[in-house]
Amino acid sequence: MGRDDADSGAPIASIIIVDDDPAVLELVSFLLAQRGHRVTTATDARTALSLITAEKPELVLMDYLLPDQDGLSLLQTIREQFPATYVIMFSGQGDQEIVVKLMKAGAAEYLLKPFNNRTLLERVDGVLRLREIEQANRALQTERERLLLEIETWNRELQERVREKSEALQQAQTEIAQTEKLAALGYLSAGMAHEIRNPLNSIALFTQLIRQGVDDEELCDYLDKTLKEVDRIDGIIRKLVDAAGRSRTIAPDVKVDQVIHSALEVFAPQIEARRIAVSLHCDAPPLPIMADPAELEQIFTNLFLNALEEMPQGGRLAIEVTNPEQRVVVRVSDTGGGIPEELRETVFEPFFTTKSRGTGIGLPVVRRIARLYRGDVTIEQTSPRGTTFRVSFPSFQG
Ligand SMILES: Nc1ncnc2c1ncn2[C@@H]1O[C@H](COP(=O)(O)OP(=O)(O)O)[C@@H](O)[C@H]1O
Ligand SMILES: [Mg+2]
Repeated sequence: MGRDDADSGAPIASIIIVDDDPAVLELVSFLLAQRGHRVTTATDARTALSLITAEKPELVLMDYLLPDQDGLSLLQTIREQFPATYVIMFSGQGDQEIVVKLMKAGAAEYLLKPFNNRTLLERVDGVLRLREIEQANRALQTERERLLLEIETWNRELQERVREKSEALQQAQTEIAQTEKLAALGYLSAGMAHEIRNPLNSIALFTQLIRQGVDDEELCDYLDKTLKEVDRIDGIIRKLVDAAGRSRTIAPDVKVDQVIHSALEVFAPQIEARRIAVSLHCDAPPLPIMADPAELEQIFTNLFLNALEEMPQGGRLAIEVTNPEQRVVVRVSDTGGGIPEELRETVFEPFFTTKSRGTGIGLPVVRRIARLYRGDVTIEQTSPRGTTFRVSFPSFQG
């Protein structure tokens, strides 16, 4: 073995040799096999192409003149269909034009026949090394493109997250503003109540004095009615003061159905007068809630009041209690006129009302109390045929 057979460090490859001269095939195969390459041979272009398709060799050594096709067009086919297969062309003529054409068509090297063994082996090694570097480059390029794509995806996700967070922040700010409005309202009403109750007491006192000196029956009746109305105003104000200034009494096991019953009692006269059909359905004994029962009652008082106000000519008030996944969910449905889609969230804003004598504090109070106990209230459905409010609380697991 000559020094060419020493380990040159060049890669070992699968190589196909294409030549119609058996002497060339034999010699070249022998030389390359000796170097450790896996060698296959073909004597025409058609056989060569099917071998290449099957084996996808690293390298093809091919004569420019083949019996069934010219080497140039086979070279073009290989470069197009198998870009990882490199080609060294043999050429019998010293025609510069052909060599230029071959190199332009993608040949990695060319050898003029006859060639000496050493030149052949050097060219093969050179092309295999070049191929290895170029393939590695291509892999790096692909990896780079993949990474760029990944970065782009991350970027997009990041932007989406920033957008979501900004929205959440905006939402939180809106809620803070609403809570502040409510707090101001509580403060105002407590102060105002005081101011109103003093003159109200005087009115009651003077009316009583007048009544003592009056004999006329009709006049007495009017004065009694005045006293009764004064009493009613006093009751409303007392409730307001209670709600604003009372300290909270939390019980660990409030049963929501009892709270609902006692809220309903308040409306018994209206319910009867307007012939409103009331139904309360619990699909199981309600789970306990840890809350101040008076505050919970306020939730239902407000929802029932709104529902009744929506049904002046009668209708149906349906209350349904369920216990999904350790939560207590209450649905309050009416057969009133519904809420326009665009007002679904607006109705929870403090002071928003569509009623000539409304205050717009019912639903904000409902929501504040629900959230106080880690629950929430939403409009589950609404249409011109009625509305369902959904109140939900986590249950208390002692
Ligand atoms: N059950 C309901 N059906 C239709 N509209 C409702 C219902 N409940 C509340 N609303 C709407 O929400 C608004 C706000 O309600 P609320 O905060 O209780 O204030 P108010 O009852 O004083 O108007 C009401 O004015 C009404 O337009
Ligand atoms: Mg209301």
